[in-house]
Amino acid sequence: MSHDRIDSILQEERQFAPPPAFTRLARIRSASELAALRDRAAADHTGFWADLARGELSWHSPFQTALDDSAAPRYQWFTEGTLNVSYNCLDRQLANRGDKTAIIFEGESGDTRRITYAELHREVCRFANALKAQGVVKGDRVVIYMPMIPEAVIAMQACARIGAIHSVVFGGFSAESLKDRIEDAGAKLLITADGGHRGGKIIELKAAADKALSHGCASIEKVIVYKRSGHTINMQAGRDVWWSDAVAAQAAQCEPLWVESEHPLFLLYTSGSTGKPKGIQHSSAGYLLGATVTMKWVFDIRDDDVFWCTADVGWITGHSYVAYGPLACGATLVIYEGSPAVPDTGRFWKLCQDHHVTIFYTAPTAIRALMKHGDAIPGRYDLSKLRLLGTVGEPINPEAWMWYHRIIGHERCPIVDTWWQTETGAHMIAPVPGAVPTKPGSCTLPLPGIAADVVDEQGNSITKPDKGGYLVIKKPWPFMLRTIWGDHDRYIKTYWGKFGGKYYLAGDSARRDQDDYFWIMGRIDDVLNVSGHRLGTMEVESALVAHPRVAEAAVVGRPDDIKGEAIFAYVVLKGERPAGGVDTALTEELRAWVTEQIGAIAKPDDIRYADNLPKTRSGKIMRRLLRSIAAGEAITQDTSTLENEAILLQLQGKQ
Ligand code: WT7
Repeated sequence: MSHDRIDSILQEERQFAPPPAFTRLARIRSASELAALRDRAAADHTGFWADLARGELSWHSPFQTALDDSAAPRYQWFTEGTLNVSYNCLDRQLANRGDKTAIIFEGESGDTRRITYAELHREVCRFANALKAQGVVKGDRVVIYMPMIPEAVIAMQACARIGAIHSVVFGGFSAESLKDRIEDAGAKLLITADGGHRGGKIIELKAAADKALSHGCASIEKVIVYKRSGHTINMQAGRDVWWSDAVAAQAAQCEPLWVESEHPLFLLYTSGSTGKPKGIQHSSAGYLLGATVTMKWVFDIRDDDVFWCTADVGWITGHSYVAYGPLACGATLVIYEGSPAVPDTGRFWKLCQDHHVTIFYTAPTAIRALMKHGDAIPGRYDLSKLRLLGTVGEPINPEAWMWYHRIIGHERCPIVDTWWQTETGAHMIAPVPGAVPTKPGSCTLPLPGIAADVVDEQGNSITKPDKGGYLVIKKPWPFMLRTIWGDHDRYIKTYWGKFGGKYYLAGDSARRDQDDYFWIMGRIDDVLNVSGHRLGTMEVESALVAHPRVAEAAVVGRPDDIKGEAIFAYVVLKGERPAGGVDTALTEELRAWVTEQIGAIAKPDDIRYADNLPKTRSGKIMRRLLRSIAAGEAITQDTSTLENEAILLQLQGKQ
């Protein structure tokens, strides 16, 4: 589609009303139904959430207090209540959905498995018993470093069943990153696999785990290894146990451990503006409530749906919309292990066709990457079962939105653009698809009970349309993070410092239009969004300076058509700058180095060598200037405060 055509569509039909065929069967069918929910939330914020918590979750013992804010900003929801998350996801379904498919799995090479709720319950129980047999007790941390296979979900659910706190580390992270996370969490047990499959290759998970454990991770007592790839790996006697051996003698029943609402369900590490990722700590009851209600409000989940969220369980999206939300709603979900480009870029659409996917949720970066290959590829597949599409992770550009709408959704499916974060636990600003008209590029309106606002430097609401400001949440919500593991001060400073403890600071800038629709403009901190994943510039800088030849590094984002942001690094070497600022061999070495330090997602796209970094006289690196240079823009900033103005030509690659 031409840009002119897109522009004209955007001008003529800026709003896309909920399609009548969708609305007819939707859970929430009209603006007035949604308004009733909002009004109820506005009238009694905690009462609104308390009613939902009573109605949506199965409690072992009821809670008395909806919200305890006596230790704010450590908010506590539904205290005195006890429940079990795994019970809510599995046992609850057995009576009516025991034989229903819970998980449809497909591996990259096309191997498939279907697991019913009864089978999933059994496997989770057996693995929970295995964990207990290995000495795991309530509150212990368990790190999960797995390929995208059902066992990753089984491992998470098994932890939840016995009150162990899981911390999933994305399989694309390096040994070094794995080690840091294991050590920060003080994990007792690691669950991994011999290897996973992606892009036709074997991802050497066990080898990376061995490397992590060989130079640290003293807290790890046992490693459970699932056999997936079947290739030869090292097993350390006394420490490493095959999954199949660990579960062999275990009973298929395991009483769920009833835990307090606030008991930590998991930690998930995410990047911030320092070099060290932070362990975001989530609760049990409040978190599960968020995953559950948003499955209903935003995904309109029904019993006959086949729900596919393409995220890996290593990210929050894979927690809320693979491992927990769909199961808590008794839905059928799809898990795919491999790459969207194997054997060709039609794979996602073939999966949608073959498994009759009705709800499809992915990242704008994936949409843009697949769009590049043209309309003919999705055109080969029957996508008629799709009824709802979703996006997450970054703002979606209108061109990609229109392609998704026309070529994938056949103009029949609403698109839910969902704004949220690792910290928020579940969707915060997103359309309720049967009730809210959508606009390409906007995540639309806050969900009921979510007090999102855009404020100025002083914390005053910005009412003028289209004026940007800080995105904040003005009231606590049940699925919010509780703290940063081991660093409550950092939690208070990062999220509550800016507005005197009153508002949660999301770290994004946003504006609202004349219809009060939210438009996310980008991060306000030194955090990049690379392919929908958060990455701290400091993290990449620390990795670079750990290399023996690097003296100093500054990392910024450069706009990228597919990835959203590409990683651009300016490097000052110890010793001479390479002639003409080019050293291809060293560049490759540094790229490989960062991959080893963090993971392939952090690999710099561009490295430029300079004698110096542009600093003010007080020694502050002028990042805005570096961003302009990376983007190839003309320099409009005032460079008179620059200590070493001559460096600009080098940085621009002109010298
Ligand atoms: C950051 C959170 C939430 C799961 C995936 C990322 C950006 C997220 C959107 C959206 C515009 C978005 C924000 C946010 N973001 N969703 N729909 N529109 N921006 O989780 O790694 O915690 O990153 O992703 O900048 O702060 P995350």
